[in-house]
Amino acid sequence: MMKNTVTTIQQQKENGEKISMLTCYDYSMAKLMDEAGINMLLVGDSLGNVVLGYEDTISVTMEDMIHHTVAVARGAKNALVVADMPFMSYQTSVYDAVVNAGRLMKEGRAQMVKLEGGASVCPQIKAIVDASIPVCAHLGLTPQSINAFGGFKVQGRDEAAAKKLLEDAKMVEAAGASAIVMECVPAQLAQLVTKNVHIPTIGIGAGAGCDGQVLVYQDMLGMFSDFTPKFVRRFANVGEVMKEAFREYKTAIANGSFPAEEHIYKIDESIIKKLY
Ligand code: KIV
Repeated sequence: MMKNTVTTIQQQKENGEKISMLTCYDYSMAKLMDEAGINMLLVGDSLGNVVLGYEDTISVTMEDMIHHTVAVARGAKNALVVADMPFMSYQTSVYDAVVNAGRLMKEGRAQMVKLEGGASVCPQIKAIVDASIPVCAHLGLTPQSINAFGGFKVQGRDEAAAKKLLEDAKMVEAAGASAIVMECVPAQLAQLVTKNVHIPTIGIGAGAGCDGQVLVYQDMLGMFSDFTPKFVRRFANVGEVMKEAFREYKTAIANGSFPAEEHIYKIDESIIKKLY
């Protein structure tokens, strides 16, 4: 399998080959996704929800992101590792944005960083790209703005908002972004954006007209039940399989069938006898 890079995902768009991306937060899962040939692994700040149990992504720190990104990077041989810049790691200044993007590359071993916003974060995107760090923009429903939006809602539905989203996409491209994630955007608008930018678009709740798709892996595996958005397809019910295995484990401990003969270590009986 070939190593995925900014160049190969750009080629995929140009050749009309769809890009696959999944969120990922640890080494074992990174290896499984990498071996399955997933093009891009996103260490999303959704780890705040699905790994750390917060109700939003606001409290996720740079330390959280680095901790998980470096674990994913160790497991990803061919997949392109993208790390989310957490809330307030880039909004505060261009300087903070470059320093924190640099940490995600240097300490987290990411190969691209992702940040939320359009025109308002173009100075940050430009400065990060000038520091030779590839950037993925994130438009539409940007969860770090949950308090400003007043809830999780589909974005870009009226004329002004749709126009702004298209303009934001063109602006992040002009600022040097290598890809755009679009979240909870009407399918026709996401398709129009995809046709109007040269860089790949990756949709989540944005329809099939994007150049690629991303899902949170706990959602697509049925491992997270707090909230399931309309755009999720459950590709397997791993949560139920895991729960059944946990129940069987408990039962096997209770009835003494685990651990069995094949799971134990032995020493010579004569040594044991000397101890009492
Ligand atoms: O944090 C995340 O997982 C994301 C995806 C939902 C795109 O940003």
